[in-house]
Amino acid sequence: MRAKILVTRHLPDAVEDRLRRDFEPALNEADTAYPEARIIELCRGCDGLLTCPADKISGGLIDAVSGSVKIISTFSVGFEHIDLAAAGRHGIAVTNTPGVLTQATADLAFLLILGATRRAFEGQDLIRRNAWSGWTPTQLMGTGLQGKRLGILGMGRIGRAVAARARAFGMEIHYHSRHRLGPDAEAAAVFHQTADGLLQLSDVLSIHCPLTDETRHFLNAQRIARLPEGGVVVNSARGPVIDDEALIAALKSGRLAAAGLDVFEGEPEIHPGYRELANVYLLPHLGSATIETRNAMGFKALDNLDAFFAGKEPPDRVA
Ligand code: 8YV
Repeated sequence: MRAKILVTRHLPDAVEDRLRRDFEPALNEADTAYPEARIIELCRGCDGLLTCPADKISGGLIDAVSGSVKIISTFSVGFEHIDLAAAGRHGIAVTNTPGVLTQATADLAFLLILGATRRAFEGQDLIRRNAWSGWTPTQLMGTGLQGKRLGILGMGRIGRAVAARARAFGMEIHYHSRHRLGPDAEAAAVFHQTADGLLQLSDVLSIHCPLTDETRHFLNAQRIARLPEGGVVVNSARGPVIDDEALIAALKSGRLAAAGLDVFEGEPEIHPGYRELANVYLLPHLGSATIETRNAMGFKALDNLDAFFAGKEPPDRVA
């Protein structure tokens, strides 16, 4: 008998085709966000839940669905939206999709770095408002990357892929992470034992750490004050790592030159202060949004379900 899977969002066609072939899926064709109570209701009789970070999989939800659901497979590398302790209490497996979104997310981080440092929003805006009166030698001058210091906060897969791109742009690479990498993986990047050590020389700071109790609001006013004058901050990890009020104040005062943000605390609602600033380059959580990557994420989420229902250990089990 095929396992019954609640799929909370519409997934790429190839992924939904495979779901229909191998499982009994309850698909979300309208692709509307389900509130918690709806997920609980739709999970009735389901063996598995295929979710993503836009859903909050709380302890209460897990308690309510634990009668039938045996595995929660998230279509994401991040899993902070799932109460792992509650899943553990009920013996429910939790899996994610690491590895396959590394390159797409690193590309996007670089789009943020370039968008912020080269004032791409202001340039687009001039053209779209039909306000460009012509080329001038001093129009919309940004800052170059050659010889600048890139500070990478969180040197996991994505942080390392960003470092590889930064090398091609002639940047000097510095990082802070829970663990120092071996010399091969480090590839001449400079390790900083403390976050403060990294901040003080990051002309561009790129955030790649997971969201945890420790990293929530990590980049607050005090830490922003340690960044070099005119620094740039980009975030393609998780919005709540930044204290929005503090970042907005620093961008407004000119203490920081620019920011590039793909993720936001409380998204899709974003702090309204960002919309008023010209020196912030904003994207709506597009980190992994390529067709190749979204297919690969979906297939990985399904590989985990396949293994689990075949009685094997799912390859990407996080709890
Ligand atoms: C996705 C992500 O945009 O994988 C993650 O943790 O944040 C991104 O890849 C999104 O979460 C897809 O569900």
